[in-house]
Amino acid sequence: MALPPPSTAGCVWITGASSGIGAALALELARRGYRIAASARGADDLDALAGRAAPAAIACFPLDVTDHGAVLETAAAIEGQCGPILGAVFCAGTFRPIAADGFDAEAALKQVAVNLGGVIHPLEPLLAAMLARGSGHIAIVASLTSHFGLPRAGVYGGTKAALVNLAEALHVECRGRGVTVQVVNPGFVETLLTARNDFPMPFLVPVEKAATIIADGLAGERFEIAFPWQMAWATRLLALLPRRLAFAITRRMVRR
Ligand SMILES: NC(=O)c1ccc[n+]([C@@H]2O[C@H](COP(=O)([O-])OP(=O)(O)OC[C@H]3O[C@@H](n4cnc5c(N)ncnc54)[C@H](OP(=O)(O)O)[C@@H]3O)[C@@H](O)[C@H]2O)c1
Repeated sequence: MALPPPSTAGCVWITGASSGIGAALALELARRGYRIAASARGADDLDALAGRAAPAAIACFPLDVTDHGAVLETAAAIEGQCGPILGAVFCAGTFRPIAADGFDAEAALKQVAVNLGGVIHPLEPLLAAMLARGSGHIAIVASLTSHFGLPRAGVYGGTKAALVNLAEALHVECRGRGVTVQVVNPGFVETLLTARNDFPMPFLVPVEKAATIIADGLAGERFEIAFPWQMAWATRLLALLPRRLAFAITRRMVRR
């Protein structure tokens, strides 16, 4: 089922809304009439975001998604202030290349905590509330890197592959109980996260365009919102190739 039309009786919760895809999506959904509860650690950035939307369209709930207690409190505060969370988009995420040379376990586990833990924590209160109500919509932002392991992005891609697996399982479990679970798999999108990349990023998508595609996807029925189509097909094809051939392609990305 698609994200229900905007309603004054509830809101859409977006994590990772202080910048990039989450911020652009918050503005796009607010423009389409949704009441948005916006979360991230950066309270000032959230306030600035709210200032760019119509008055009261975006309410700010500063939050570190790795803090389980704070996530539970925030979910309750949102429902108290903005009404039931009708939809949620889990967008909080982080990326740092981690190579085999100098593999840094602490940095790797930090990515796991934000990218994977940052979805698992809010799922607890949301699934409970939505399944009890018999309605709800959850979109998990993963990445096209989830399709196949890419050099120096194995930890990041691993967290995203885990999210896709989780979304696939929940999609089927929740189907028929009024709760929709989707996955969003972007390719390269122009944000702070990719601004640090020092390699070519084919088919780079402007963040506003990404937000429009995701908002349209939320209003549709497909499980996977994957874009741009060129990168989506390329990564799917990579995953379908015999590994020997796929490795011959990804080996070209390894720097000596
Ligand atoms: N850009 C791309 O090409 C691309 C491609 C595929 C997937 N994605 C995914 O899209 C999502 C958004 O990325 P982006 O490109 O928009 O990057 P971004 O501009 O760096 O945004 C990341 C967001 O996550 C928030 N965040 C990070 N750690 C957090 C924490 N511990 N608690 C709460 N919020 C936290 C950040 O806010 P604070 O720092 O204020 O907390 C920020 O709002 C990520 O999940 C990313 O993996 C991006």
